[in-house]
Amino acid sequence: MDKALEGVRILDFTHVQSGPTCTQLLAWFGADVIKVERPGGGDVTRSQLRDVPDADSLYFTMLNHNKRSITLDTKNPKGKEVLEALIKSCDVLVENFAPGVLDRMGFDWNRIQSLNPRMIVASIKGFGPGPFADCKVYENVAQCVGGSASTTGFSDGPPTVTGAQIGDSGTGLHLALGIVTALYHRTHSGRGQKVSVAMQDSVLNLCRVKLRDQQRLSHGPLKEYPQFGEGKPFGEATPRAGNASGGGQPGWILKCKGWETDPNAYIYFITQAPVWPKICQVIGKPEWATDPEYAKADARLNKLSSIFNTIEEWTKTKTKFEVMSICNPLDIPCGPILSMKEIAEDQSLRATGTVVEVDHPVRGSYLTVGNPIKLSDSKSEVRRSPLLGEHTDEILTKVLGYNEQELTEIRDSGALEPVIKQAAE
Ligand code: COA
Repeated sequence: MDKALEGVRILDFTHVQSGPTCTQLLAWFGADVIKVERPGGGDVTRSQLRDVPDADSLYFTMLNHNKRSITLDTKNPKGKEVLEALIKSCDVLVENFAPGVLDRMGFDWNRIQSLNPRMIVASIKGFGPGPFADCKVYENVAQCVGGSASTTGFSDGPPTVTGAQIGDSGTGLHLALGIVTALYHRTHSGRGQKVSVAMQDSVLNLCRVKLRDQQRLSHGPLKEYPQFGEGKPFGEATPRAGNASGGGQPGWILKCKGWETDPNAYIYFITQAPVWPKICQVIGKPEWATDPEYAKADARLNKLSSIFNTIEEWTKTKTKFEVMSICNPLDIPCGPILSMKEIAEDQSLRATGTVVEVDHPVRGSYLTVGNPIKLSDSKSEVRRSPLLGEHTDEILTKVLGYNEQELTEIRDSGALEPVIKQAAE
């Protein structure tokens, strides 16, 4: 076997971003992912944020590589029969519909289990059981209710969402781990099980250091937060920490040469305690290495802002890459703020397959992010996303084994035809 998940077949009932992130990962690892889409428009992201007329959007193509697409109206009686056949021939059903949708379609857990007791049913919802269980949720809502927004931004500014899609893609990652765990469990239990991940829970899991700080707060001020040195009192909840490091080694984003015109001429600089004497040498403050006010990490905590201002006077004289090349050999941890343009052009990311150029029959070539998880014996290749319904016939005949007459019956039933015109069209 070349691929780690070869032989695993996924009924991909996902849409938008969170679910497709999960099934794309499984597809990269070699699972046969069959994306079931509504006839007519399919996944709503096919037509959202379109940059090329009539071509699937980058939003869709970048989340649906290596999958096959079948269009099927699963509310049509014949469509339901086809869905039943798919449930019987797949190992995992993945969905991120709004709460109750699958039940309304007639496919609750008991029904699926009776059709295929080995099936794993993996679901993403916005919230777990509780007062908000029935709510529809998108990325930024998850960031807000999972503790990310209240702890992101500057202490004197409003709550802020982050560009990293921790609510959607972060939840998709969690779900993928749940699925492979359930697949492993099935190897000895012989049974499928439900895998449920709530977006709120996933975001909170990624924000656990902030819940750590919430509890530390009851034992005194958070000394590594810049507001401690600035004399600003702490409130009852973990505050926003600006660009402070989330760990025990203070860090901040500092201007570099060219910052006046380049919005990304900055570097993240960490004053890691073991290399403090080297930092003092590099920035032209050798006396700080022995001065009792600066020599020990604890003594520095009440003046972090002024220390970073002094370091910035030095970084402003160098480009971000010059700072890197001076600091790296000295083991001083730092990282340039890379723009998306710089990342897109980065040849080392291309060489590892993390940034990949893909060809598409309608839109032409585009860049995408490849599989960030590298397996030594199971290399991922990135194949373009499917066109809407591209594999309908292939799946009906080769996977489900329908003959010509059955195929005609399915077609005549209208199960492959659009029922409603989607608003986005
Ligand atoms: N054939 C027929 N009907 C289909 C279908 C198919 N192949 N695929 C989907 N549908 C129908 C569903 O049955 C449902 O109909 P119903 O409401 O009459 O039962 C309908 O499409 C819409 O599903 P829904 O999930 O409610 O879509 P939405 O666009 O209104 O909501 C979300 C989108 C993302 C807000 C919602 O799906 C959600 O909260 N998902 C869970 C959390 C999540 O993943 N959010 C992040 C998304 S990135």
